[in-house]
Amino acid sequence: MGSDESLVQQYLTPSNIFGAFLTYIVISLVADFFFSPKYPTSIPWVGHGKSLFGTLRNTFAGFTQSKSWMQDGYDLYSKHGKAFVFPSMLGATAQTMIPRSQMSWMLDQPDHVLSTSAAHYEVLHGDYSFVSKTCLKDPYHEHVVHKNLARNLNAVIPDLDDEVSRDVDELLGTDTETWKKIDPLEGMMMRIIPKITNRVLVGEPLCRNKDYLDNMLGFTMDVIRGFLLFTITPQILHPIVGPIHGLAAKYHYWRTSQYSLPLIKQRLSDIGKKDAGDPEFKNWKEPNDYVTWSIRTSIAEGRRDELNPSMIALRILPLNFASIHTTALTGSATLLDIFSSSPDVVQSLREEALRVYTAHGRKWTKTGLSSMYRIDSAIRESQRISAFSLSFIQRKVMVKEGIVSPEGVHLAYGTIVAAPWIPLAGDEQFYETPEVYDAFRYSRERERYEGLSAEDKAKEDVLKFRQTGLVTTNDRHLPFGHGRHACPGRFFVAHELKMMIGHLLIHYDIKPLKERPQPMWVGRNQVPAKADLEIRRLKVE
Ligand code: HEM
Repeated sequence: MGSDESLVQQYLTPSNIFGAFLTYIVISLVADFFFSPKYPTSIPWVGHGKSLFGTLRNTFAGFTQSKSWMQDGYDLYSKHGKAFVFPSMLGATAQTMIPRSQMSWMLDQPDHVLSTSAAHYEVLHGDYSFVSKTCLKDPYHEHVVHKNLARNLNAVIPDLDDEVSRDVDELLGTDTETWKKIDPLEGMMMRIIPKITNRVLVGEPLCRNKDYLDNMLGFTMDVIRGFLLFTITPQILHPIVGPIHGLAAKYHYWRTSQYSLPLIKQRLSDIGKKDAGDPEFKNWKEPNDYVTWSIRTSIAEGRRDELNPSMIALRILPLNFASIHTTALTGSATLLDIFSSSPDVVQSLREEALRVYTAHGRKWTKTGLSSMYRIDSAIRESQRISAFSLSFIQRKVMVKEGIVSPEGVHLAYGTIVAAPWIPLAGDEQFYETPEVYDAFRYSRERERYEGLSAEDKAKEDVLKFRQTGLVTTNDRHLPFGHGRHACPGRFFVAHELKMMIGHLLIHYDIKPLKERPQPMWVGRNQVPAKADLEIRRLKVE
């Protein structure tokens, strides 16, 4: 026993541990270096380049330097119509950044040439993070959302209105005397958005069930922890680390399924009875939510496999993942941007919210929401200046022999191609004073147009204004992606955030912030700023 201990002491010295760690990193890097897709010599790299030594330096420097590398690549190459390679960091693969001038080529490629779902599968570690590989390999839930969400949005507005006011008031209370300090991301958005999201996914009362929501959020956090874990773990070790990491997601799925499965089974049975002409179901109205949309779409398309209750329950997970943090980050960044702007901005937004809400019978309606140009602009401007990722569009090369880009670059099978966003969002060529948060950047012209006479309106180019709405994507606005795979949830997000911010402005007073709290960048993503908003119910409404 004693000699075992002395052996351990002899070998477990700090220098041996460090040596073992270094050997492990080097072996992993060498393996990753040889197994990664090959890049032609003609394509430039940012960071420390593509040599073995460069790869080692990129791995560590990438944590703090990624944002400036992206800017360098944009200035040196993208702006001149050239692609560049954004280096890998251990487990996160290198990506080829396609310039704006080639974006329509990239987005027009069919899915069997450049695939969105395969890129998402790789970036989100679909082998391990989503309980079943099928879930992301064949993303039927995305198809269901593309087909149904926007089409049903008008009908679900009253539900959303109910959920937003109920959840905001429950969280912030009705005390008109005491200021409440609250972090807009963790304290507010992350507590409200999951309920609103699940109102359209599974309906009430499940959307407010604490245990269901806690475990659903647990699942989304598993995926996010996976990002970090897989980034710091060399790719050759993913098959060992991945299944262990995947256990947490499986556990959280099992916990959520205790609630979602009975609901889904009941819905399948009810829909079945209605379709079979059961007289008891003659006047039964199907709930308007994802579960119904999914069942109806699968029946219409003959996808019997998608009528399996566990499959439907499973697909609710990636939808929660796609919705919750994205919306919460966008909403909290917008609040920080608005409340660190001049008081005139807040006043002007409040005036709009109150005017529209009152004009539509003190409720939110489709027409009312789409006439809220100022808040629409304030959110879009936040997506520009406070975006949470360096890039929002990713595609994977699926052709075995590779493809050739318009500039003549050969992109090998397996290459991830992407489009830079942060440097484009700050480009003076497209945005005047890009460093300034100008809440009404997109609404000023729109409001001027709306104030014109019918005769003068006829002389204006109305398409110009439509190009700058929150839900409009183009090659200069990428936070919802662009092209046929652009986010199908964006119409819902626009309604949800406008209602929520509108409700806050109408019913609550929020103290202005002295300055905009600054976020940090780690690797390719932003770590949001911690902040406290001071909020109190308004006395006069
Ligand atoms: C502010 C909130 C959100 C942001 C910033 C966002 C952003 C994005 C982005 C960048 C993409 C990739 C687009 C591309 O590759 O061209 C995407 C795809 C997607 N989003 Fe969102 N999203 C948000 C909210 C939502 C919500 C609420 C839902 C569902 C209810 C949703 C469902 C989806 C789906 C299903 C896809 C895959 C579309 C496809 O590949 O065809 N998203 N989203």
